[in-house]
Amino acid sequence: MRKHYTGLIERYKDRLPISESTRIISIGEGNTPLIQLENIPKLINKDVEIFVKYEGLNPTGSFKDRGMTMAITKAVEEGGQAVICASTGNTSASAAAYAVRAGITAFVLIPEGKIALGKLAQTLMYGAKIIQIKDNFDAGMRLVKEIVDHAPVTIVNSINPFRIDGQKTAAFEIIDELGDAPDYHCLPVGNAGNITAYWKGYKEYSTDSDNLPAVTEKRPVMCGYQAAGAAPFISGAMIDNPETVATAIRIGHPQSWDYAWAAQKESGGWFDCFTDDKILAAQKMLASHEGIFCEPASAASLAGALKDIASGKIPEGSRIVCTLTGNGLKDPDVAITQCADDQPVAVEATLDSVKRAILDQM
Ligand code: F0G
Repeated sequence: MRKHYTGLIERYKDRLPISESTRIISIGEGNTPLIQLENIPKLINKDVEIFVKYEGLNPTGSFKDRGMTMAITKAVEEGGQAVICASTGNTSASAAAYAVRAGITAFVLIPEGKIALGKLAQTLMYGAKIIQIKDNFDAGMRLVKEIVDHAPVTIVNSINPFRIDGQKTAAFEIIDELGDAPDYHCLPVGNAGNITAYWKGYKEYSTDSDNLPAVTEKRPVMCGYQAAGAAPFISGAMIDNPETVATAIRIGHPQSWDYAWAAQKESGGWFDCFTDDKILAAQKMLASHEGIFCEPASAASLAGALKDIASGKIPEGSRIVCTLTGNGLKDPDVAITQCADDQPVAVEATLDSVKRAILDQM
């Protein structure tokens, strides 16, 4: 019988800072589908293999659960009773869920009016202590870093190294499934924890360690994509008033700045940015051509891959993985606004009207 894994810590515990006696706080995260796109490569008429790592299928609907299972497990192991994070929405939902699972308290600082509806609904349902601030994520992050000197709380933002350790397992899963690293790995960049984590994972799987042999020699080129209004990696300096419809990555002062630059340089990769329109177009393209619904920020990965494939920067014959960081259901408002021109028809509830509605649209 195939071994049953409850979550990513169980699966990868020989590569995580966990001991036999650690109480693992898991809700069955990780092991997300790696889906090969079938229609978009034909549409763009390019000979490329594009896979999407659909992280929206984690328990709270985003990749944050990978890091959070580790961060909360370690916080509890160290005797913590409360955790805190600043968030654009997904980290707060994840922290809230894993904290309640562990029986501890989660405090979350969110920018008032700037987090997607689904994320707010989740965080409320899980019962986190929500503190809305009249400022953005970067201000929340600054406050969280200060508050730990004034209250007994553990930070579970990605500046917590256990978050990065949990999130690196996505790279392990990709190599385990494809049999090797892809040629290119494309992902959205906000606070830059995820690009840091993937690169750590790819490096660890391609390096002999004391007790584990390398799984592969290959590492991908890392391509990080931002929203044009929130693109410090493009301007090369922190920015103060980030703005984008992709609220998840509405960040001007990324915390993992140096690590992300190291990932770019060591992998021979690059950063680029896209207007909100381009990001939304990629989100809709993925939903309407492949049946895969991700949130706006996630679609920056596909927007980037498609641009770089079109220009030849990513050559034909390449195998590409795009991380879809969050589920499309997180942000119903943006999705519905996007489809304003595709309003459903309304008809009388009669056989004749329904028949006409069908035949008219065939
Ligand atoms: N995509 C989504 C859906 C996110 O929620 C985030 C970050 C990112 C991409 C960027 O990842 O920060 O590791 O570079 N969301 C954080 C949050 C900031 O609070 O939920 P990153």
